[in-house]
Amino acid sequence: MPSLLPLVTVLTLVGAATCEQLLASHFSGQVYTLNLTSAGSKYNLSVSSVITACGGLPSWLTYDAVGKAVYCSDETMSGTGSISSFSAGTNDVLTVIGKANAPIGGVANTLFGGSNGRGYVAIAHYQASKVSTFKLPITSSSVPQQVFTFTMNGHGPNYARQDAPHPHHVVLGPNGSFIYSPDLGADQIRVWSINHTTGNLTSCPSYMVPGGTGPRHATFVVVQNGARIVMYVANELANTISVTALKFPSNGACPTFQPLETLSPFPNNATAPIATWTIDQTSGMLDFVDLHDSWGTYPRTFSINKAGTLLAVGDQTTANVAVLAINTTTGEVGATPVANLRLGTAGHPENEDGLSSVVWAE
Ligand SMILES: *[C@@H]1O[C@H](CO)[C@@H](O)[C@H](O)[C@H]1NC(C)=O
Ligand SMILES: *[C@@H]1O[C@H](CO)[C@@H](O)[C@H](O)[C@H]1NC(C)=O
Ligand SMILES: *[C@@H]1O[C@H](CO)[C@@H](O)[C@H](O)[C@H]1NC(C)=O
Ligand SMILES: *[C@@H]1O[C@H](CO)[C@@H](O)[C@H](O)[C@H]1NC(C)=O
Ligand SMILES: *[C@@H]1O[C@H](CO)[C@@H](O)[C@H](O)[C@H]1NC(C)=O
Ligand SMILES: *[C@@H]1O[C@H](CO)[C@@H](O)[C@H](O)[C@H]1NC(C)=O
Ligand SMILES: *[C@@H]1O[C@H](CO)[C@@H](O)[C@H](O)[C@H]1NC(C)=O
Repeated sequence: MPSLLPLVTVLTLVGAATCEQLLASHFSGQVYTLNLTSAGSKYNLSVSSVITACGGLPSWLTYDAVGKAVYCSDETMSGTGSISSFSAGTNDVLTVIGKANAPIGGVANTLFGGSNGRGYVAIAHYQASKVSTFKLPITSSSVPQQVFTFTMNGHGPNYARQDAPHPHHVVLGPNGSFIYSPDLGADQIRVWSINHTTGNLTSCPSYMVPGGTGPRHATFVVVQNGARIVMYVANELANTISVTALKFPSNGACPTFQPLETLSPFPNNATAPIATWTIDQTSGMLDFVDLHDSWGTYPRTFSINKAGTLLAVGDQTTANVAVLAINTTTGEVGATPVANLRLGTAGHPENEDGLSSVVWAE
């Protein structure tokens, strides 16, 4: 769905080695592998390979570093959607392993469950108001293992965007035992516990957020030397970031939620596409650092490499990937991109076209 999404980058202090392969998807039906080469401080981002795959509207890529596989959701909005998996073969050319029919409107996916955490995939379906799961591997005869369909009475406060439940993300919690799905239409974070053996999800009570918040993406950080799990949610409709502590009963039962703070990503009325924050390692609360350009319009997606040295931002409408350096000591993001590459055709503001997803393949 269209949005100008404030990006929260989580600042980490880690080593220096960088991996230099990225994957990107384009709503016109392409999935790319990109090479980021560097010589000293000079970087060059180039297309290594491109395939037409992942149905009519590729929207989201998950990279499985262990299985050297890629899972792509298709946001096709009517008829039948799909889920595809690719292997990253020699010279990083992607080949399709499997493609199965799925509900429409796939906008995000995550691997979960099984003995290795890679036994199943869960998918958020925005237009279908559903979350589905599939057992892996995906084949042409795969059918969903479970489909959760959500309904609500009437509209939410944002009449245009909250006509129905719209799950926009599925994300695995820090220890892999629960899946969370911000529902932009229904103003809640949906939660499931995972049965690792069967891959079945069991619904937990949702975390309800104020009407009109429109939660879109969630991520988690563990602070207090492991004692506190904190959830950060980017709220698309309210244009805020909320910080919430999670509590887990010792019997493995569903988490409860304690709101800590809700912030504007734009202090002092400034606006910019990327906001950075430091995380207090005791409370998990955020301190504003800086705002940055995204070097294109409609930043939809971003990914930080494992070393914490590079931030790749995917701008939807201008269909470009901008790579920005991160100072691992200060967390500061570089003023100008080290590389910037247009992929395929540019999109149109408010349309579901242009670049959809970028991730580091490492
Ligand atoms: C960047 O890489 C591409 C593809 O390998 C190559 O054609 C181009 O000349 C390189 N650009 C620079 C500035 O090295
Ligand atoms: C991209 O990098 C991979 C791995 O280093 C290499 O095999 C491939 O040839 C590169 N692609 C291009 C177009 O240079
Ligand atoms: C997982 O499902 C299996 C089969 O239904 C059941 O025997 C087992 O107790 C479940 N595990 C948990 C942790 O609920
Ligand atoms: C998993 O859930 C489905 C329905 O959601 C159910 O039909 C199936 O029996 C469950 N499988 C196990 C092993 O519990
Ligand atoms: C994950 O957290 C839940 C809730 O605290 C706990 O029951 C479970 O044992 C944990 N799992 C792992 C693998 O640590
Ligand atoms: C932000 O903008 C509003 C509306 O224009 C104004 O009332 C407010 O004083 C501004 N705040 C700051 C900190 O500049
Ligand atoms: C990171 O920032 C520190 C403090 O400003 C500076 O001393 C250091 O040179 C920077 N590192 C890089 C790689 O730019």
